[in-house]
Amino acid sequence: MKPPVVRDCEALDAALAPWRSDGIAFVPTMGNLHDGHLALVARARELAPRVVVSIYVNPLQFGPQEDFAAYPRTLEEDRARLAEVGADLVFAPWDEVMYPRPLSETTRVRVPGLSEILCGAHRPGHFDGVATVVARLFNLVRPDHAVFGEKDYQQLLVIRRMVADLAIPVRIHGASTVREPDGLAMSSRNQYLSPEERARAPALYRALRAAAEALARGSEDYGRLEAQGRAALEATGFRVDYFTVRDADDLGPPSSGRPRVVLAAARLGRARLIDNLRVDAI
Ligand code: PAF
Repeated sequence: MKPPVVRDCEALDAALAPWRSDGIAFVPTMGNLHDGHLALVARARELAPRVVVSIYVNPLQFGPQEDFAAYPRTLEEDRARLAEVGADLVFAPWDEVMYPRPLSETTRVRVPGLSEILCGAHRPGHFDGVATVVARLFNLVRPDHAVFGEKDYQQLLVIRRMVADLAIPVRIHGASTVREPDGLAMSSRNQYLSPEERARAPALYRALRAAAEALARGSEDYGRLEAQGRAALEATGFRVDYFTVRDADDLGPPSSGRPRVVLAAARLGRARLIDNLRVDAI
């Protein structure tokens, strides 16, 4: 059965009141759900008896030239997919429910430092938009647990830092990236790829894997690995925003003996793809 949808705070509170004592796990999304999202919901099911999924395309996290208007809005298909994994409720707030005041006057949450590097440097304000909407969603849903995909690795760290700094009473869980059989990480933005671009897209995963394997074998020549990764992607027709090795806990410079992650963001045609591999995950 498709999960019911609530669109305002009163209906959300009424639906959640009887579930609070049992425990609620929450999966925030922007909809257009694929198997990667369903894996987050499946993880949430393991964490609490009730699972709430939000679907909201958040205008605050898109830059002026980005795909906010084009972002696919597929609520009924999403509900059908959520029926497959047994979500209990969809919260799909109206814009005025998420942002009761004009966006220019809305209070922002900013996680300094972490929000300004990598994707934050290429998408100014993006993580402020993410932190702001997630903080408000947390305050409305008040979940015990929340699940985020590790594909959006920097986002996961921004949320963890925000929750720690603001003492928000929720436990954050990262869930492994779900990949297509050829290695491409699942993403709503994959549908922007033409068939020809789609065939080239797995080069992103291959480049990350090559770097992560070299690190696992003991290489510490980060500059060389980054240059090789970038060159491999450019040879496949990507325009590379970054290809970099970082400390897996704070995205600072990597050092041996500490957990490391290789992260990349690159554009292929209309799609901007991001992906990462932790060295301890290969
Ligand atoms: O990862 C996403 O889909 C979004 O950034 C999120 C966390 C739902 C906030 O809008």
